[in-house]
Amino acid sequence: MYSFLSALLTPYTAISITFLIILKEFYFSRRTNAPKCPKLAFPIVGHAPYVQFKRFHRQLTEWGNNFKKTGIYQINIFGETSVVVSSYEAIKEVLITKSDELGGRAKLLRTSLTTRGGKDVAFDNFGHRFIQKKKLLMKSIKVHDQKNIELEQVTLDVLEDYSRRVLDKNEIIDFHEFSINLMFDIIMAILVGHRVNIHDQRLQELKESYATINKCFLNQKLAIYDLFPWLTYFYQSKEYKEMKQAIKNRDANLSSFLKEVREEQLGNILGEQGLYDKFLQEQRKQERDNKLDDDECFMLAMETILAGYTTSSVSIMMIFALLMKHPRVLNKLINEIETTMGFNEPINYLKKNNMPYLEATIWESLRFIRHVNPIPHSAMIDSTIQGYFIKKGTQIIINTRDLHHNEELWGDPSNFRPERFFREDGTLMAPDEGCRKYLFVFGGGRRVCPGKGLAQQRMFITIIYLLQRYKFEYVKDLNDENYIYNSNEWDFDIVLHPDQFFVKVSRR
Ligand code: HEM
Repeated sequence: MYSFLSALLTPYTAISITFLIILKEFYFSRRTNAPKCPKLAFPIVGHAPYVQFKRFHRQLTEWGNNFKKTGIYQINIFGETSVVVSSYEAIKEVLITKSDELGGRAKLLRTSLTTRGGKDVAFDNFGHRFIQKKKLLMKSIKVHDQKNIELEQVTLDVLEDYSRRVLDKNEIIDFHEFSINLMFDIIMAILVGHRVNIHDQRLQELKESYATINKCFLNQKLAIYDLFPWLTYFYQSKEYKEMKQAIKNRDANLSSFLKEVREEQLGNILGEQGLYDKFLQEQRKQERDNKLDDDECFMLAMETILAGYTTSSVSIMMIFALLMKHPRVLNKLINEIETTMGFNEPINYLKKNNMPYLEATIWESLRFIRHVNPIPHSAMIDSTIQGYFIKKGTQIIINTRDLHHNEELWGDPSNFRPERFFREDGTLMAPDEGCRKYLFVFGGGRRVCPGKGLAQQRMFITIIYLLQRYKFEYVKDLNDENYIYNSNEWDFDIVLHPDQFFVKVSRR
C-alpha cells in the first residue's frame, strides 16, 4: 500500500495535479462576475512575475490606482486568487457588514509552523475555538480591570530603568532600536507581572528568534512553500531550515522562561500576577469539553509578545518623529500634559478622558504612518463584495494603507493634523462620526485587534512619561527625511518599519 502511494506521489504527479487545479481556477474566475485584474496574467504563474515582495505595499497602491472607482481588484498567483479592497465601502463590507463570512484566515505553511497549526488567535480560522481564545485574550487584557491598573506601575518601572540606563546619558540614540527594546521589555513585564532581567540570555535569544521569524515573512524563497507545501517533502532550503530553527529556539526560550516565572510566583504569597497567569487562571475555570489546551495558552503568550512589541515600537518611534517635525502639535501636547497631569505628578491612566489632544495625536499618527495593515482575511463561504463574486477560500487583502491616505475622504492626508478628529465645539468625534469613521487602524468587526486598549494605554503612558522628562531633537546629518517620514520607502516583515532613526535626547 505504502509503495503504491509513494509511486503515485512523484514530483511529476504533484506538478500535474497542481497544473490542473490552476487551470480550473483560471477558467472559473473568467466565468463569474469576478473583480478585474490590474495586469494580464501569465498562464499558470498568473501575476507572480510582477510581484516584488519587499515593496508589495507600493505595488498594491499602484495597481489600485486603476480601480479607484470600484475600490476592488484581484490578482492571481499560481492559481491562488487574492482580492484587494481599498475603498471605504468595500473595506467596511469586509470588516464589519460581512465580518462573519469574510473573517476567515487562509492556512499557510509559514503561519501554521509559527503557530503550531493555528493554536493562536491571529492565524486561526474563524470558528468556535477561535472565539473562545479571543474572548479569553480580551478578558485578560481589559485595561480598566483593577489588576491591569496595577500593571501600569510595571510599565513605569521599565520606563524608569530605560531612563537611567539609556536616556540620561545625553547622547544621540537610534530611536528605532530603543523603541523595540523598550516595548519588548514592557510587554514581557506585563506578561509576567514584574520587570524582567534584561541580561537574561533566554530573553536576548527570544528577541533574536522573533526578529528572524519576522524576516521570514518577506522572504520570497519561503513564499513558494506557502503555495506548494508538499515541496518540503522533497527539498527544504537553507532559509526554510533557518525559520524552523528560529521557531524551535523561540519556543524553548519562552517556555523555559515562563516555567521559571511560574515556579517563583507559586512560592510568592503576594503573587505578582501578569497576563500569562490570567490566561492560565481562565483556562482552569473553563469546562472540560471547552478547555483550552496548554499549547493554546502558550501561543496566546507568544502572540501577545509578537503583536505587542512589533506594532507599538514603530508607533512610539514615529509619534516622536512626527512631534519633532511638528512643534505646533508638540507644544499643544505639552500644554495639555501640564494642565491635566502636571510635570511632576505620577501618571494616571484614569485621566485619559481629560487629554483629548493626546488621544487625537495617537489616532492621527497611526493614520499617518499606516505601518500595520490587517492580516489578509479569507472568505469562509461563497460571497460578494460590492456586488463582485468572491469564491469560498479567496484571500482578501484589506488595503487600509490606501484608505488612510485617500484624498477624497481626508482632504489633506499628507498633513499631520490631530485637529481633524475634533468637532467644532472642541470635543472629540465619536467612532462613527466625520472622518473618524474612515479610521481602521485597529481593524474592525470580528477580527478587530484585541490589544487595542492595551496598546493605547501603553502609548499614552510612554508618551507622557518621556515628554515630562526629555527633549528630543531630530539629527539632520544622520537621517534621510524622505525615508523616515514616508512608510512607502520602508521594508515590510510583520509590519512596515524604517531601519534606523537617530535622535538627540536631553533632560527637560
Ligand atoms: C499600535 C499597536 C497596534 C496596532 C496598530 C494593531 C493593529 C492591528 C490590526 C490592524 C489587526 C488586524 C485586524 C484584521 O486582521 O482584520 C490586529 C490584529 C491583532 N492584534 Fe493588534 N495592533 C496593535 C497592538 C496589539 C497588541 C498590544 C496586541 C497584544 C495583545 C495585539 C494583538 C492582536 C491580535 C491577537 C490580532 C489578531 C486578531 C484576530 O485575528 O482576530 N495587537 N492588530
